[in-house]
Amino acid sequence: MTLKPKRVFSGIQPSGMLHIGNYLGAVQQWVQGQGTKVNFICIVDLHAITMPQEPAALHRQTRELAALLIAAGIDPQQTTLFVQSHVRAHAEGCWLLNCITPLGWLERMTQYKHKAQRQESVLTGLLDYPVLQAADILLYDSDEVPVGEDQKQHIELTRDIAGRFNSLYGETFVLPQPIIRESGARIMALNDPHAKMSKSDFTRGHAIRVNDSPDEIRWVVKRAVTDPGRDITFSADPARAGVNNLLQIYELFTGQSRAAIEAHFAGKGYGALKTDVAEAVIEGLRPIRERYEHLITDPAELDRILAVGATQARAVAEPKIREMMAKVGFVLPTL
Ligand code: AMP
Ligand code: TRP
Repeated sequence: MTLKPKRVFSGIQPSGMLHIGNYLGAVQQWVQGQGTKVNFICIVDLHAITMPQEPAALHRQTRELAALLIAAGIDPQQTTLFVQSHVRAHAEGCWLLNCITPLGWLERMTQYKHKAQRQESVLTGLLDYPVLQAADILLYDSDEVPVGEDQKQHIELTRDIAGRFNSLYGETFVLPQPIIRESGARIMALNDPHAKMSKSDFTRGHAIRVNDSPDEIRWVVKRAVTDPGRDITFSADPARAGVNNLLQIYELFTGQSRAAIEAHFAGKGYGALKTDVAEAVIEGLRPIRERYEHLITDPAELDRILAVGATQARAVAEPKIREMMAKVGFVLPTL
């Protein structure tokens, strides 16, 4: 008997330039997982518009993100890379799932509460965001969802929604597992190691973007907030979050073991740590930046890759949406 290869699905918003938190928490895992599993990576533009977006910027950032993902190692031969709005089943699936999801489940999502707090008027789409995410995942019978830690609650909600649909209408969905790394699950801001690195914070020094110049990377790392201690060791102590964050970044860019890293820095000071971290980040990002500069000059080729991805994605998502509609009791349109 041959085992069915596992299905992997993840998504990322085209709402701003990728930072090293996105790269280390999510994208690097997606790249490393290619080969043995069936991978779907979705550029989630429907999710992006749950917060106000400038249309021209959204349009540009969608291709930029596609180019960056390919530059970072997403291989369109091994991964179905596509844009969410190109596959209508996502919006349709969201609607069907909306109609079995209690409002209370959405109101307690921490990401929603956090984003809603900062807005004068909260958009309906923002509250509904996790249901659309559930549709994304469930349409592909995904077994695994590799994400950063901030998405754990959304994957748990997806399991609850799938379970509810299954119990109302009969076995339809696979219950997905979140896949969260030990290191890199939550890369912290360099100017504040108690806040998550975020796409929406544009303060200089907060984040390193994947296409920042070497000089900018050195500037940001040099000013990274550390702590008054001296030890350069991995630690879960909140008082040492700054050094721990720098060490995790170093670990993930160099691929070295924690023991080797601690030995390397033994007896050295924070100045040396920062110099080495900056150089490791620069070297790790250099090939990505070079490939990106090349890919972004050919939008027609990017569009061609995304069109192939959309065709492959539809081939999976369309039969699934028809199965959902049939289970709910709809008369299916003839094909
Ligand atoms: P987003 O930019 O919100 O679309 O996130 C894309 C992916 O990056 C998701 O899997 C997030 O969980 C992950 N991610 C975002 N910020 C961080 C961070 N600071 N550390 C680790 N992973 C992150
Ligand atoms: N909500 C995710 C984020 O902001 C993006 C996303 C949308 C996603 N759909 C998904 C992640 C499906 C995993 C699976 O990071």
